[in-house]
Amino acid sequence: MGSIDGLRDILRGLPVLKGTAPEFDPLNVPDSPVELFAHWFRTAVDAGAVEPHAMTLSTADADGRPSARVLILKDVDAAGWHFAINAGSRKGREIAARPMASLTFYWPELVRQVRVSGPVVADAPEIAAADFLARPLGSRQMALTARQSQPYREDSELDDALERASRALEADPDQVPAEWMSYAVQPDEVEFWQGDPARRHTRLRYDLANEQWTRTRLWP
Ligand SMILES: Cc1cc2nc3c(=O)[nH]c(=O)nc-3n(C[C@H](O)[C@H](O)[C@H](O)COP(=O)(O)O)c2cc1C
Repeated sequence: MGSIDGLRDILRGLPVLKGTAPEFDPLNVPDSPVELFAHWFRTAVDAGAVEPHAMTLSTADADGRPSARVLILKDVDAAGWHFAINAGSRKGREIAARPMASLTFYWPELVRQVRVSGPVVADAPEIAAADFLARPLGSRQMALTARQSQPYREDSELDDALERASRALEADPDQVPAEWMSYAVQPDEVEFWQGDPARRHTRLRYDLANEQWTRTRLWP
C-alpha cells in the first residue's frame, strides 16, 4: 500500500531525541521512585518543558482492551500519582472494572520518559471535592453535565446541558458532582528512561515487593 501524501518520507525525515539530556547516574539515586520523580519533574519545569504535567493514562476494559488518553497530573506523594476524572467517562468505567493503570510522561526537552504503573485507588471524597472546587468555571460546568465520552448528535444538546449546568452552579456554587473522583496510581513499578541519540539509553526500574523498592538497570 502506498504512503498517504508521502507521509512515510516525512516521518523518516523527522528528528528525534534532540533535547538536552541532563546528568543521570543510575547508581546514585534515591531509594524511593517518588523522590527521583520529584527531582526529574522539577528539572523538567526548570528547563521550561512544555506542559510537563501532561501524562498519558492507560487503562483497559474488562476484556483487556486497552485505551489511553492525556490527563493532567494533580499531585504526587507517598499515596501515589493523583489525577481527577469523571467516573462515568470511558476511563472512569475502565478503572471501576479493572483498577490498574499505567502513566507515561515524556519530556522531549530533556529526552526523558517516566513510566508508572500499578493499582488505582480512589482518594478520599474531600480530595475530589477540593480538586473540583478549584477548577475553572467552564471545567466545572462541563463536568456537571456528567456525560463525558457519551455520543451526541446535535450541538444544541451540549448547549442545553451547559446552560442547565451553569444555572445549577449559580444556584449552588459549592456543589460537587457525585461522579467527580480523584484517584491515585499506587505504583509497584516505576521506570526512568534517559534517552541517548546513539541509542545507549539509560534505564532504571524500581519494583515494589514486600513494601521495599528494589532497583534494576535495563538493557536499552
Ligand atoms: C493536554 C491535555 C490535558 C488533558 N487533561 C484532562 C484532564 O485533566 N481530565 C480529563 O478528564 N481529560 C483531560 N484531557 C482530555 C482527555 O485526553 C480525554 O479526551 C477525556 O478525558 C476523555 O477520555 P475517555 O473517553 O477515555 O474517558 C486532556 C487532554 C489533553 C490533550
